[in-house]
Amino acid sequence: MYKKKRKNWYVPQGQEPTDFDKRILAFQDRGELVPKRKLIKTPEQIEGIRLSGEINTGVLDLIEKEIHAGMCTAEIDKLVYDYTVDHGAIPAPLNYEGFPKSVCTSINEVVCHGIPSVTDVLEEGDIVNVDVSTIFNGYYSDASRMFIIGQTSPEKEKLVRVAKECLQIGAEAAKPWGFLGDIGRAIEKHARQNEFSVVRDLCGHGVGLEFHEDPEVDHFDTRRNGMLLVPGMVFTIEPMINMGVPDVFIDEEDGWTVVTEDELPSAQWEHTFVMTEHGLEVLTH
Ligand code: MF3
Ligand code: CO
Repeated sequence: MYKKKRKNWYVPQGQEPTDFDKRILAFQDRGELVPKRKLIKTPEQIEGIRLSGEINTGVLDLIEKEIHAGMCTAEIDKLVYDYTVDHGAIPAPLNYEGFPKSVCTSINEVVCHGIPSVTDVLEEGDIVNVDVSTIFNGYYSDASRMFIIGQTSPEKEKLVRVAKECLQIGAEAAKPWGFLGDIGRAIEKHARQNEFSVVRDLCGHGVGLEFHEDPEVDHFDTRRNGMLLVPGMVFTIEPMINMGVPDVFIDEEDGWTVVTEDELPSAQWEHTFVMTEHGLEVLTH
């Protein structure tokens, strides 16, 4: 059977291609992967995601102020829920594909998707990722930070710092009319230079109108160009950097918690970005 496959980028019938269309079509004609139209956000949508991001940042600032040794991660969950709802927003993780809480809290060897619990009590020396995602007026934003509880070891401190640098370096590598693959290549290089590894089984993602949209944003060198980066695209970069091996597994008991195979620590930072004609702009400052 012959099935006509529509190309990702096309000019709607009866319309003249704009310069923007022509620029994308030229890449598509050369065999490059280009985004579908719906991945290019309108200025109005970008402003909606920005407002969502402002609340998301408020949540993370609150956690930064309140987090301390002796606190259980269920308390973090309550702070996130209350702040979000008080600002007229919805915590995106809550009931997302069955996730039971409002935020992910991932301590030490937990890579991501840790479930807040009264039995997970933060201890001096822990490194913890708090991953906050907000829906406001239908728009999604997503960001996470690492917190060091009191004093930690120099190695864990370095891991947290390098993971943050990986996010910054990845974001700087992303150029308008460049390619998604530039991001992971830059991140992997920096992680390797510091003798850390990059998790390959989880990625960043398009975000904004849904929690997880195309494209998938790999944080390692895929040895491909990947999708063309077009102004108006909104996506996260959220490298997970491991002290030991890159391999991870999912806790069978809860079906969510992602843990390093060697149980050595992992660190992650995340922002939501919009691509502009001048490079990435952070929407979750
Ligand atoms: N916030 C995570 C991300 O960065 C997704 C968490 S899904 C959840 O993509 F259900 F665990 F919340
Ligand atoms: Co994300």
